[in-house]
Amino acid sequence: MTIVYRDTHEVDLDQLTVLFNSVGWERRTADRDRLAQLVRGSLFVVSAWDGDRLVGFARAISDGATNAYISTVAVLPEYQKRGIGRGLIQRLLADHDGIQFVLHANENAYPFYLHLDLGFEPFENVLARPRKL
Ligand SMILES: CC(C)(COP(=O)(O)OP(=O)(O)OC[C@H]1O[C@@H](n2cnc3c(N)ncnc32)[C@H](O)[C@@H]1OP(=O)(O)O)[C@@H](O)C(=O)NCCC(=O)NCCS
Repeated sequence: MTIVYRDTHEVDLDQLTVLFNSVGWERRTADRDRLAQLVRGSLFVVSAWDGDRLVGFARAISDGATNAYISTVAVLPEYQKRGIGRGLIQRLLADHDGIQFVLHANENAYPFYLHLDLGFEPFENVLARPRKL
């Protein structure tokens, strides 16, 4: 299996819907315009492909200079635990040492980010206003 990574915004929305739904994120895919905006509005986008099949996705919302917020990192269940999640995050962070990356992990992914040993650590005084829709 050869996984190819892309860092363009050209991510097929049908395949992204399949990927997100496979990890239980139907709420993110129900509104196609919102899904398209999720991709379009993210400065950094990385996708992982097995041939023509989208098998992983990660993105960060960023000003491209100082701050970034990583979100919606997903790998198809049958492709998990093969290093693809690490590959996606490494590529998001690459060449951006001047940028502070923040993320809010769910309880399953929290140990994943710590385990990566890519510099993620608990961060004090982080506040969030959860979305209401
Ligand atoms: C979290 C997720 C992206 C990880 O992707 P993945 O491709 O399975 O991760 P990798 O195979 O690259 O794992 C890299 C390392 O982390 C470890 N790891 C993977 N998932 C882990 C977890 N949940 N907890 C602790 N360690 C984990 C792997 O064993 C591997 O260790 P190694 O480098 O020592 O061999 C994937 O499980 C997923 O899509 N989950 C559902 C969606 C989700 O919750 N996303 C996070 C949103 S915050």
